[in-house]
Amino acid sequence: MLDQDILKQYCSYLKNIKYKGIVQNIKLEHCTDIDDNNLCEGDHHIILRLIRIRKSQRNKGFGSIILGDVINLADNNNVRLILYASEKYGSDIIRLYKFYEKHGFVLIKNDLDKKMIHYPNMNVHLNKFNVQLNDSIVQLPIVQLHNSILQEKK
Ligand SMILES: CC(C)(COP(=O)(O)OP(=O)(O)OC[C@H]1O[C@@H](n2cnc3c(N)ncnc32)[C@H](O)[C@@H]1OP(=O)(O)O)[C@@H](O)C(=O)NCCC(=O)NCCS
Repeated sequence: MLDQDILKQYCSYLKNIKYKGIVQNIKLEHCTDIDDNNLCEGDHHIILRLIRIRKSQRNKGFGSIILGDVINLADNNNVRLILYASEKYGSDIIRLYKFYEKHGFVLIKNDLDKKMIHYPNMNVHLNKFNVQLNDSIVQLPIVQLHNSILQEKK
């Protein structure tokens, strides 16, 4: 089961091991609020508080791959992934919306906080209708993640 400690370790693994020198900062938060719309099972969700790629490494596909890893983590744990698109770090908001939409996030209309949600295993559901969402997702179940962290520590 996901908790804040696992997410902290996961962010540290992405930043300091798997994408060392590429990720400037990544923050994930575990939440257990009730889903207002009751659109999926369970009350757990993950908030992607920040994904920041080093300037020199942007527009090379890393942001997409890393976002794919985070989406997989949420999918494998059957939880929603929520973010609040922000221009705070100099990104253009329309490009950001497109970036996240390309990865299956849905913008909550009229939400002043620019909230976007990725529902678990959406690509599996879309594939039922022969819709291709993206092909950059890397399978990384949480058990595998733990093993990778342990291996790296040895
Ligand atoms: C947004 C970000 C994570 C994308 O990472 P990346 O490695 O550059 O992304 P990729 O190479 O996988 O994909 C390129 C896409 O990223 C998005 N992107 C890249 N630079 C961007 C910018 N300055 N503003 C908005 N979106 C941008 C675009 O959608 C772009 O696709 P396009 O060229 O077709 O428009 C990266 O630009 C970044 O770290 N920005 C600064 C921090 C930030 O704003 N984070 C998001 C806060 S919600």
